[in-house]
Parts: sequence; structure tokens; C-alpha cells
Amino acid sequence: MSEQNFSRRDFLQSACIGVGALSLSGGISSAFANENKGIQTNTSGLPSCDILIIGSGGSGLRAAVAARKLNPNLSVIVATKMMPSRNATCMAEGGINGVTDFSNGDSHKLHAYDTIKGGAYLVDQDAALKFCELATKAIHELDYNGALFSRTKDGDVAQRMMGGASKRRCNYSADKSGHIIMHACLDDAISAGVKFLMDHELLDIGVENGKCEGVVLRNIQTGDIHPVLCKAIVIATGGYTRIFYNRTSTPYIATGDGVAAALRAGLGFEDPEMIQFHPTGVQNGGTLITEAARGEGGYLLNNKGERFMKNYHEKAELAPRDVVARAIEIEIREGRGYGEGLGSYVLCDVRHLGKDTIMNKLPKIRHTALLFQNIDLIEEPVPIRPTAHYSMGGIEVSKIDDMSTKIEGIYVGGEAGCISIHGANRLGGNSLTDAVVTGKLAGEGASNYAKDAKFLEGKNVLELAKKWQERFKNVTTGGETNQMYALREELGRQNWDNMGIFRTGEKLEKLAKALDDIQARYNELKIPDPSLVMNTAFTDYVELGNLILLSRCACLAAINRLESRGAHTREDYPKRDDANFLKHSIVTLKDDKLELGYKDVVVTEFSLDGRKPQ
Ligand code: FUM
Repeated sequence: MSEQNFSRRDFLQSACIGVGALSLSGGISSAFANENKGIQTNTSGLPSCDILIIGSGGSGLRAAVAARKLNPNLSVIVATKMMPSRNATCMAEGGINGVTDFSNGDSHKLHAYDTIKGGAYLVDQDAALKFCELATKAIHELDYNGALFSRTKDGDVAQRMMGGASKRRCNYSADKSGHIIMHACLDDAISAGVKFLMDHELLDIGVENGKCEGVVLRNIQTGDIHPVLCKAIVIATGGYTRIFYNRTSTPYIATGDGVAAALRAGLGFEDPEMIQFHPTGVQNGGTLITEAARGEGGYLLNNKGERFMKNYHEKAELAPRDVVARAIEIEIREGRGYGEGLGSYVLCDVRHLGKDTIMNKLPKIRHTALLFQNIDLIEEPVPIRPTAHYSMGGIEVSKIDDMSTKIEGIYVGGEAGCISIHGANRLGGNSLTDAVVTGKLAGEGASNYAKDAKFLEGKNVLELAKKWQERFKNVTTGGETNQMYALREELGRQNWDNMGIFRTGEKLEKLAKALDDIQARYNELKIPDPSLVMNTAFTDYVELGNLILLSRCACLAAINRLESRGAHTREDYPKRDDANFLKHSIVTLKDDKLELGYKDVVVTEFSLDGRKPQ
């Protein structure tokens, strides 16, 4: 290959393998020699790897590197639905929180306090403090590993203000922070000898007597459905904000596959109702206009030209996200916005920052505004409206120290998990930190466990693989092309209309009924494409099933949380109710039925006063 033709895809290709290249448990090397022969009935001889990481965002890649560095003899494979550069980490713009300058009075405790208060106190305080302590180290590591951070005149990593922060502690690379960090993590992973199963989606997780057996993967390129035995897995599949199909800043793949598979495997889904709406998505579609636009001094303006945020919060545009998102919606509701219906908006104005600042610190959002709104924000304000952005809820994690779960051998990293650092509202800049901090902890946890663990026989995972093969055959037998996409549109609309920024019992009950109906129609759904090769319609089908399941969980928890807290605003219960709801919702799936339980929030040294409004 000539130097000129060398592409990043070629670089990644050098680390890609197929399932056939995995070792075979029991040493029967012929069992999976031909992937097209399908699933073997003899469980010994299944493809295997010591640690499988599912998801190639920041948390997955950090987990993979950490697992391998701790025990270089273990095989560590990353299975990913898409090119790593297409994930949510890459789309993060504003930066990564972590105290690196202590000279201005900032501290880990202050970072934890802001995080807990920003999260409307539904934050486990012990986890938040540990997270903030580890954040500093994570940023130094990224810097050392070559992440191209923006710099101050003195050469330090540059920091900016973000919403809800009392100090400047958001470390950034212009407004492409996630992209830069993701590529640093990818380079690191490839150098560390991590291998990739590209275009592989997670279908299910096999469990035997409370221990993880492995997973069922589908190779999207070939259609093969494989059981893979693993000593440990790390679920790093990101969030489920695509339940709001039509309006989100997250990638097409944010369908919560790992959360749904974990739920089916018997793990709890913690705080599913806590879904963040980022205040500033572009009007057309919801792609992100970073909070850093406001962090650098940008304004929000209503149709009277007023900086209305001053009327809602002392921090004005830099209030926590839930507060800003609600304020924008109130302005629109009360006639001070522009446009109509879902197309309504207010304006984000950065013109006064000047061309140099915009070009140096906010070049990506200038591009976004040009692309989606045909507006140059050097010259004009950009129309914005809240957009679904982040899942505070996720798979219930037992311990932050190793990101383990109640099932031995299953670990979780990043947005797929909930330990709970973000509570009812995550602060801007804490998500990249979560990805790299918890990803690393999960990788180390999995590695420590896998080094002494043995492969299980894998009967359940084999059974699950057979069921998925059958399902593929049964589902791809007819139907109309548009039926599934219409159902997905309807799911997104129902969730947006009834479980969006403002919720009521009445709307949520209506949603619960609609979701039952959508589930029933999904159960009968067929797709008219039986081909094995690149059958992305089947991927869409699997994702839709996951989105429906996760929507039902969120709706169940939202109906029963009779208070307003952070992103969960109940207009019929406008006050925060610590006496009854200072607890996490935990949804589980038993015999195909959802059950709702609760678990107390961990409160240590931080007070529960001071957040206004709730
Ligand atoms: O606005 C933003 O740049 C988003 C950052 C985040 O969600 O942490």
C-alpha cells in the first residue's frame, strides 16, 4: 500500500478480525472453520475470547486498553456495530470535566458538589466523589497519550465554563473534544493489540447460575449469528436516546442494545426515566450546538430579542441543562419563540464573540449551523430547540471500583451503565469523563475477573443463538418495507409528545397504552428482506425491539415517580419530594413482564439544599 493511499480505514482494518479468528473453546479447531455452516450443537468448540467489549466508543476503547494492559496474555476483542468514528463519543463537542487547576480554589469536592446538585440529588455521593477524583488522572492520561487538547498561552490544557459548574474545569479541543479524544483512544487501543469485530451487533447475553457465559453476535456483513463464549464482557453500548427517534443529538446507533440485552439477561435498569434534553439542538433535526457556545459567552434570545435566561436562573445561560431546556420550551409555549409546532425555536447568538473566537473555539458548530440551517453564525444567530441528548439511566452497576454487576463476569462502562453519577440531570462535560473513567474501571474489573475465570459450557448462549436464527427466518418473510419505519416514527413521536420535557400522569398513561399497542404490532412485524448479506433492515428491526422495551421501562418509572426532579418534570407534581423519592427506580424483566422497584440514593457528606428550581 503506498503511503499516499493509506487511510484511517486501512489503519483500523489492520486490527479487524472475523469470528473465525477467535480461539475455540475445548480446542476443537474445525468446529467454526466455516462461518456459514451456522451454529454448532456441541458447545465445546464455540468461538471464544477472554474478554469481549461490546461497543467502540470512548468507554469501550478505554476498557479494552485497560483490560489488556493489566493482563497482556488475555485476548481482548471489541465488537462494534459501526466504525468507531461514528459513535456518540465522537459527537461530544464542549469538552471533558476534571479539575486540573487547583489554584483557583477548585477541588474534587467542589466538582462532586456541582455534579450532585446538578443531578438534583439523585446522585450516589460516594460514586460522584470517586468519579471526580479519577477525572483529573484521566485527563492527564489522555493528554500524555496524545489527545490534541486546546492550550493556554502557558501550554496548559485549556479549560472553559460549562453549565452548572462553579469553576472553569471543562478541558477541551475547540468544539471537537469527543472526536479528538475518541481518536486518541482508538490509536491507543490498536497500539495495545486490541482486535475488532467490525459490523457485529449484540443480540443477547447468555447467563448460567448467575455467571456470564458469553454473547450472541450477528455479523451484519454476512448475516451469521454466532454464540461467543467469554470469561467476561464489558457492555459499552451507550445510551438509548433514539427512543426519541425524530429529535436527538445522538447517533443513529444509540438504541440501547446493551441495556436491553442486560435487562433480558436479568440485570436491573436503573433510573430509566431520567433522560436529558440538551437545550440547544439545531431547529432542523436536533444536531448539537454545543453548550460551549454559551460557555464562551453566547446568548439565548426570544422573539423580543431578550436574554430570557436571566429570568429563570442566576447563572442565566449557564444554568444546568434541565433548567435551560424547560425555559426554552416555556418561552415557546408562551408565544415568545419563533415558528410553529415541532419547528418552533428560539435563537442562540454568538456574533458578539467575534470571528476569531468562533473560528478557533467553535468551528464545528459553525459548520453544523451552515449544514443544517444554512446560517453562518458569525453573521446571524442560529435557531435552536432542546433535543434528546443523554441517558442518565442505565444498567444497574454494583460497584464503581470495578463497574461490576450482579451477574458475575458482566461489567459496564459509560452511558450504558448507571452507578449513579449523574442522577436526574448530567452536567455538560461530565459525559466524556464518565466514558473514560468508568470505561477504564470496567476494563480493569473485567481483566481481574477473567484472569482467574474459566469458560462455561455455554448451553444457554447456544440456545439463544438458535432462537435468533429462527427469528431471523420467521421475521424476514414478507410485510411492507415502510411498516417498520412507520412504527419507529410513531414510537419516537409518542415518546416525544408524552414523555418529553414536560410530563403528566395523563400523558404518561396515554403513552403506556400506545406502547402496548406498538409492542403488539412489533410482535407481528415482518420485514420483506430475507438476504443475509448486509441486511440492515434486520438490524433496524432488532434495534426497534430494544427501543420499544426501553421506552416501556422509562414510561413505567416515569408514571410512578410522583415528583419533579432534574430532567423528570411532572407538571402534576411540580415539587421535588425527597421524603418519598430520594431513591432510584429499578426496572427488571421477569417472565416477560416489567417490574418496578426502588433503591435508596447514597448520601454521604453533601447537603441536599441549594438547588433552585428543583
Ligand atoms: O454541549 C456539549 O458540548 C455537550 C457536552 C456534553 O454533553 O457533555
